[in-house]
This record gives sequence, structure tokens and C-alpha cells, in this order.
Amino acid sequence: MEEELIQIKNTAVSLILDTKNQKELEDIKLQFLGRNGKLTLAIREIAKIAIEKRPEIGQLANGVKQTIEETIEEQELRISSQESIKRKERIDVTSPGIKSNIGHLHPITYVLSEIVDIFKKIGFQAADGPEIETDYYNFEALNIPKDHPARDTQQTLYLDTRKSKVTPGEIILRTQTSNMQIRVMEKMKPPLRVIVPGKVFRYEQVDTSHGFEFWQLEGFMIDKKVTLSDLFGTLTFFLKEFFGKETKVKFVCHNFPFVEPGAEAYISCSICKEKGCSFCKNSGWIEILGAGMIHPNVLKAVKIDPNLWQGFAFGTGLSRMVTLKYQMNDLRLLTNPDLRILEQF
Ligand code: DAH
Repeated sequence: MEEELIQIKNTAVSLILDTKNQKELEDIKLQFLGRNGKLTLAIREIAKIAIEKRPEIGQLANGVKQTIEETIEEQELRISSQESIKRKERIDVTSPGIKSNIGHLHPITYVLSEIVDIFKKIGFQAADGPEIETDYYNFEALNIPKDHPARDTQQTLYLDTRKSKVTPGEIILRTQTSNMQIRVMEKMKPPLRVIVPGKVFRYEQVDTSHGFEFWQLEGFMIDKKVTLSDLFGTLTFFLKEFFGKETKVKFVCHNFPFVEPGAEAYISCSICKEKGCSFCKNSGWIEILGAGMIHPNVLKAVKIDPNLWQGFAFGTGLSRMVTLKYQMNDLRLLTNPDLRILEQF
């Protein structure tokens, strides 16, 4: 009897392990554990053996049954995991493909290329320059010496140069793209018509209209006999091309150390049509850029004779141009990576 039970166990286990699918496994299960299965019949035989041998044989029979059942369970798992792998590998060549999202340009890049195109029409070319800058290019050469109060308006971020030989405070993150007036004028001879888009940095409290990192656009022209009316004409052309022909432009006196005379340009509010609303702080007008005739001291710093050449310069917040164009009420939306915002452009 013992031998028979062990024989049943060995045959069952090897047959179970040979099965390839659920159907084969079911057959084997029936063959051994079914109502007329080999093990079931053998267990029934136990009643016929001598009473004192029964407990021992009964225990052995239970062990055999347990082994067979466990082997069946394990084989079941093996078969079903293999079947699911096979299912995954199957490719339905007729099913439609998964459409991948195509990205597009960021609104700042859109606006930037639009502005570059507008200025190209009137003979300007675009230049690019360093964001890490020296005090000289960002301030000194622009007629803003060390003790000038205008420095206070541009919260400057200084690089820690203590471990180098550079004098502390000499290397900064540029606070304005005006640094590029000097860099370009040093390298290229007038006549010049240049625009410089780029990132600038200031130690500012971040809110709806301020960031510590934002885009500016600088522009300048140097030629013989350039006048204030060339500046006003150029900027009016640009602002009307960009914001629409119906936009009104006005200039108001303002002081910037690197220009004389200096001005600020305002555009009429497109939302309230000059009636006053929260967007234009109830004034009907929106300040859009700073400008003026390049100060003779700036020209002298780059060895251009101010008696021979004159120029105008202007600078605008490019990030602000974007928010105004799309009537966004928060500058921070431009650096928000949420696709629900970016997908609207
Ligand atoms: N750089 C100035 C600023 O960041 C803006 C500016 C004003 C640029 C007047 C100019 C200018 O070129 O002429 O506030």
C-alpha cells in the first residue's frame, strides 16, 4: 500500500509538471483526485487494511494528497502567467496607433520671434550675450557709477567670488539687457541697428507682476543724425505692429542714466479702451517700455565720437509683452510647467 501511494505521488507530480495548459492540468487533476481518481480509490482501500496499520497509511495518504494539490496550484500559476505574457506579446496590426502629443513653442518664444520679425522689416538684427556679467557692462559703462541711486532700483544678485581673485561685487547676474549696448558697440562699428532679447535677474519678491528671473528686450540704433523723432517713429511702428493698428502710443518724460533725454512709452489699454479698468490700474494706459537718446558718456565709454554719431535705445519687459498680448493677469503663468496652460497657445 505504501509503495502504491508513493508511486501515485511520483507519477502525478511528473504529469502535472508536464502540462502545458489549464485543460491538460484539469484532466490530470481528475485522473488522480476525481471521484474515481487513482488517489481517491487508493484512499478508499485503506478501510480494508488491518486496523493497526491504518493511522500510518492514512497519514501517508494525506501527505500524498497535499503534495499533489500544492503541485497543481503552483502549476496553475505558472501556466496563467505564461499565458498572460503571450497575450501581451501579441500585436494587433490593425488596431489604431497611440497618438503622441506634439509639443509647440513656448509663448515667450512665439512672441520673441514675432518681435524679431517686426524689427527685421526695418533693418534691425538680433544679438545675444552673457547672463553672467561684470559690474562694468551692467552699470559702470552705462553711466551708472558705483554710488548712483539708480542702482537701488535694480536689486542686483551678486556672485560669490570669495574663493577667486575677483573683487567681491564685480560679477553679477545681469539686471538688464542694456549691458549688450556696450558689448555690441565695443565689437561693431556704427551705423548699428540691433535688438537683444534675453533673460535678466533681480532680487525681487515674486508676485503677479514681478519675478526674480524674467525676459527683456533691448534695442538701439546708432547713425549720423539720429533724432528723438526716429526713436518715437520706430517705437510707434513696433508697438502698433505688435499690439494692433488701433493701439495708441504716448511718450512721457522719464530719467534713465544711460539716455538723455529719456522717456517711457505707454500704450492705450485694449481691454477698457482707455476708460480705466483693473488691468490698467484705472489709468486707461499701460507703461510698456523705457527709452531715450543714448547718453554721450555711454558713447564715449565705447570710443564712439558723440559729435559724429547719435543713437537711441529702448528696453522693454518681454515677459510683460507676452502677458499683455494674451491678457494674462499673472506673470508667473509663463514659468508654470502645467500643460493645461501651455496647451492654450
Ligand atoms: N534697462 C532699463 C530697465 O531695465 C530699461 C531701459 C530704459 C532700457 C531706457 C533702455 C532705455 O535702453 O533707453 O529698467
